[in-house]
Amino acid sequence: MTTHVTRQIAADNQGLREAGALLRAGGLVAFPTETVYGLGADATNGTAVAGIYEAKGRPRFNPLIIHVASLEEAETFAVFSSLARRLAEAFWPGPLTLVLQQRAPSLISDLALAGLQSIAIRIPSSPIARAIITAAGRPIAAPSANRSGRVSPTNPAHVLADLEGRIDAIVMGEAAEVGVESTIVSLLDDKPVMLRPGGVTRTQIEAVLGLVVTDPELHTPDDAPLAPGMLASHYAPHAIVRLNAKQIEPSEAALLFGSFLPKGYDTARAVFNLSPSGDLKEAATNLFAALRGLDQSGALSIAVAPIPEGGLGEAILDRLNRAAAPR
Ligand code: TXA
Ligand code: MG
Repeated sequence: MTTHVTRQIAADNQGLREAGALLRAGGLVAFPTETVYGLGADATNGTAVAGIYEAKGRPRFNPLIIHVASLEEAETFAVFSSLARRLAEAFWPGPLTLVLQQRAPSLISDLALAGLQSIAIRIPSSPIARAIITAAGRPIAAPSANRSGRVSPTNPAHVLADLEGRIDAIVMGEAAEVGVESTIVSLLDDKPVMLRPGGVTRTQIEAVLGLVVTDPELHTPDDAPLAPGMLASHYAPHAIVRLNAKQIEPSEAALLFGSFLPKGYDTARAVFNLSPSGDLKEAATNLFAALRGLDQSGALSIAVAPIPEGGLGEAILDRLNRAAAPR
C-alpha cells in the first residue's frame, strides 16, 4: 500500500473546491454525507476505484454505490422505470440508494460495479457532499469510510481512526445527521426489494409506491451473495455484541435505549443510552459513535438492551444483528 499524509480539508468553499479537484485527479477523499462519512473516488477512474478497495481492505466482489448530484446525471448511468422515478422524486436528495439496470455503454469503471449489469446509485442530501460531487464534475464511488467489516464512521475522528495515512484527504464536516447508511432498494425485477434497511423506512417507501416492499432471497441461483456486504459479519466493534440483554454483567459495557434499565446496568463497565427519551431517530444518529465509544471502554462484550422493531428500528437492529454475528 502507498502511504499518504492524509490532508484535513476544511468544509468551506475553498476546501470543497480543493476536494473536488483532488477527486478529479484520482485522489481518495473522505467526506461527510447525511448518513455516514463516505470514502470517495472518481467512479470513472479504475485506478482511483482500486484505491478504495485497497484502503478499506474491501473484497473486490463487493460493488460500490455511485453518488451523483442530480437526477439528470443519474439517468445517464441508470435506466429509470416509473417506480424508480417515483422513489427518486420522493426521496432524492436523501438516504435512499436505488439498484437499477445500468445504462450501457458506461463511463463507470467495471471495478466500481464489481462487473454487475446493475448499478447502485444515490443523490445525498448533505449540501457538502453534493458540493463536492459537483466540484469534482464526476460520478463519485463511495463506500462508508471505515476499514472493511468495521463500524461505519459518523464523524471525522472515526474516519481518521480507521484510514489516516491510507487516504489522500478528509473533508472535516459535522457529525452525520442520520447516522445509519442509506436504505438500498432494488427495482431490477420491477418490484421493490429492500436489500438494506436504512435512513428511509420501509413504511415511507411503501406509502409512496402503494406496494409491499419485499426482502431479498438470501442467495442467487449460483449461490453468490446478492449484496455481498450485507451477509457477512459487519459493523463489528472489537468487543462481542450481545442483543436483547435484560441483565448486564459488571464486566460488560451496556448499550441502552429509552427508559428500560436492565438489571445490573448501574455496575456495568460503561453505559451509553442511545436515546433516553426513546426516539429512534436520535438512536440511529448515536448508534455507531456509541459502539465505537463502548468498545474503547475495553469491555470484551457489549450488551444491548431491547430496541423496538418499527421505523428506523429496522435499520438499527439490522446493524446490531450484523455486529453480533459470528465472525
Ligand atoms: O449511506 C450510504 O449508502 C453510504 C454513504 C457513504 O453514501 N455508503 C455505503 O456504502 O454504505 P457501502 O459500500 O458501505 O455499502 C454499499 C452496499 C454494499 O453492501 C454493496 O454490496 C451494495 O451496497 N451494492 C452496491 N452495488 C450493488 C448492486 N449493484 N446490487 C446490489 N447491491 C449493491
Ligand atoms: Mg459500509
